[in-house]
Amino acid sequence: MRMYDLILKKRNGGALSGDEIGFMVKGYVKGEIPDYQMAAMMMAVYFRGMNEEETLALTMEMAHSGDMLDLSGIHGLKVDKHSTGGVGDKTSLALAPMVAACGIPVAKMSGRGLGHTGGTIDKLESFEGFCTAMDTKRFKEQVNRIGIAIMGQTASLAPADKLLYALRDVTATVDNMSLIASSIMSKKLAAGADAIVLDVKTGSGAFMKEEADAFALAKEMVAIGNGAGRKTVGIVTNMDEPLGYAVGNALEVIEAIETLKGNGPQDFLTLCLTLGSHMIVKGGKAETLKEAEDMLKEAIADGRALEKMAEFIEAQGGSREWVYDTSYFKKAEYEEEILSEEEGYVSRIVCDEIGICSLILGGGRETKESVIDLSVGLILHKKIGDPVRKGESLATMYGNDRAKMLAAKERFLKAYSFSGKEVERPLMIKGVVGA
Ligand code: URA
Repeated sequence: MRMYDLILKKRNGGALSGDEIGFMVKGYVKGEIPDYQMAAMMMAVYFRGMNEEETLALTMEMAHSGDMLDLSGIHGLKVDKHSTGGVGDKTSLALAPMVAACGIPVAKMSGRGLGHTGGTIDKLESFEGFCTAMDTKRFKEQVNRIGIAIMGQTASLAPADKLLYALRDVTATVDNMSLIASSIMSKKLAAGADAIVLDVKTGSGAFMKEEADAFALAKEMVAIGNGAGRKTVGIVTNMDEPLGYAVGNALEVIEAIETLKGNGPQDFLTLCLTLGSHMIVKGGKAETLKEAEDMLKEAIADGRALEKMAEFIEAQGGSREWVYDTSYFKKAEYEEEILSEEEGYVSRIVCDEIGICSLILGGGRETKESVIDLSVGLILHKKIGDPVRKGESLATMYGNDRAKMLAAKERFLKAYSFSGKEVERPLMIKGVVGA
């Protein structure tokens, strides 16, 4: 087999066989296929696409390019959740203890990530002493003991995807549906869960700006998951405004804790209950979504979800008191209200821009080497549909650098649009694929 022939085949619109995809991925990881040939292949795929069989074969090859986590030693059905990401997305922080409190074992690998804020792992490090580096033996032992563990993604998880993604990133070949779906799902399959619930976000703060694209991506990922023998469902959700009110690492952790205390923002709670219900049904702990939702609400109401969070934080080196008293979290030095210069109903928020404000304040990584300031960020006071008077606060901004705060404020004000007429609040759940 020659890589040249495979590139030619794809360039001319042919479909690659499983063996050909295997040859290509294995050869690339071993360094036998050079970047320039793989780059040409990615561009050919970008223009010609891949069918369902090819996409599944590519995903399986990438998943098997490193360690496949074996979670069989953990009792019960393991259900993982994945979000395609957005602004203020602190879902795992609340959802993991919620479902764990309902008897679903949570054995989750999470990443750090480049972006407006850190990933779940960074956010969790807002708890002083919290540690996500652990071996898989301790990881499984903790899940069997308390029902929940979150560890950092290891370098041996789908290394082929790591190499391919880095190449796609610099060759304008990231935004192809099959390549995105196989990239995400290779890591999910390697992480070992029996079932997967996908939160596919759409809107101005999401990777998929158009709703139709988000549904198409959800469909591809659900097909891959089911094709690989993992029960998979995709929920398409709103990201036309930040999720909840908090954007910024420690601020988001506090909002997640408040949600477990029963004081969460409505949109965020709706999302957690929806994803959580699907996880509980897929995990075999409830027959219907309604029954599962009631279980989750009960776990919040009687304090079990919050206590599960405290157990989890303590098991990984943090202090459980922080969950019960959030004043322990490190605060930014300065706090400033962003006052509205206009009035009316909030009609639009360019959600990405709010994320960039958090990045400017120091809450996210611009490069892999950047150090995140966990204390900075924003608490929004107004979201789409809310009435606003001139001079009223749109958000409180937390920062440690006055110049950065000024730049963030200017950007923030430009992200809001207003209407003289009442505006409908956006629907959180847009649809479900593969239920
Ligand atoms: N996230 C991933 O993990 N992979 C992609 O290709 C795009 C987004």
